[in-house]
Amino acid sequence: MKTKITELLGIEYPIIQGGMAWVAEYHLAAAVSEAGGLGIIGAGGAPASFVREQIQKTKELTKKPFGVNVMLMNPEADEIAKVIVEEGVQVVTTGAGNPGKYLADWKAAGIKVAPVVASVALAKMMERAGVDAVIAEGTESGGHIGSATTMTLVPQVVDAVSIPVIAAGGIADGRGFAAAMMLGAEAVQMGTRFVVAKESIVHENYKKKILAAKDIDSEVTGTTHGHPVRQIRNNMTREYIKLEKAGAPFEELEQLTLGALRKAVVDGDTVNGTLMAGQIAGMVKEEMTCAEMIQEIMTQAESLLKS
Ligand SMILES: Cc1cc2nc3c(=O)[nH]c(=O)nc-3n(C[C@H](O)[C@H](O)[C@H](O)COP(=O)(O)O)c2cc1C
Repeated sequence: MKTKITELLGIEYPIIQGGMAWVAEYHLAAAVSEAGGLGIIGAGGAPASFVREQIQKTKELTKKPFGVNVMLMNPEADEIAKVIVEEGVQVVTTGAGNPGKYLADWKAAGIKVAPVVASVALAKMMERAGVDAVIAEGTESGGHIGSATTMTLVPQVVDAVSIPVIAAGGIADGRGFAAAMMLGAEAVQMGTRFVVAKESIVHENYKKKILAAKDIDSEVTGTTHGHPVRQIRNNMTREYIKLEKAGAPFEELEQLTLGALRKAVVDGDTVNGTLMAGQIAGMVKEEMTCAEMIQEIMTQAESLLKS
């Protein structure tokens, strides 16, 4: 399937694997790219040296394009921005801020840049700054979220900008993919479904929680402090929300979540870890390889779009 995004990024299928801190390391990124989508390394809060290693390991596993997601609040974001140029990464996605100060260097290196946006205003600002595409991410998504839904945000962003729009949030099969295309998107980005890919190094306990999740099993913490995060409900979210309701200061709440995604991904702590996942987790029922997933989604979507 050819779209403006497959052409722009030089990939076979318009399916992008979301950059996910701790989760999206080189095995997953390389597997998605090898399967014809765009794999992305999630730099999260990692040091620049670690990100360089991840890029080099991905290059050993695939010759196809892949990207790096830069979390702009990372204290080493400046160094990571340089590593990306030095290592010849083809695509950058960004979260948690405005990538404006890195754009000139990335563009000069021929890197395609697509920031995650949760509003029309930010999408327009990013277009004016010169990015190549935007990822319109709805509140259904796993991880840090905005407030608009994918269904409402994507068409409004499509109408507001002339660069290609990638839809993210709540997409995990060919129906979601086809719906995103109908809303005017040129590609989709998926996170939750890729967490349980066979190539994903996420601890089995975490994967099992996603596979067992029902439609209403996700919970949003951090709303009161302006940093909402969607994850599967557990002991940690219950404790967090109790403290939020009691008016606990941000510092106290932060203590509860410090290192909590690592606890879930690496240690398999499903009680006190942060099990980031979106509302679509209820529909994700099987662990598959990235190639199987992408083929299944494309086959279903192509038949739906034809009819
Ligand atoms: C475990 C997890 C970690 C994530 N970490 C990041 C991140 O570090 N940076 C980012 O831009 N998005 C992050 N996201 C969002 C994804 O990249 C993607 O946009 C989102 O998951 C799409 O929605 P879905 O979960 O409904 O598929 C994360 C999502 C999950 C599930």
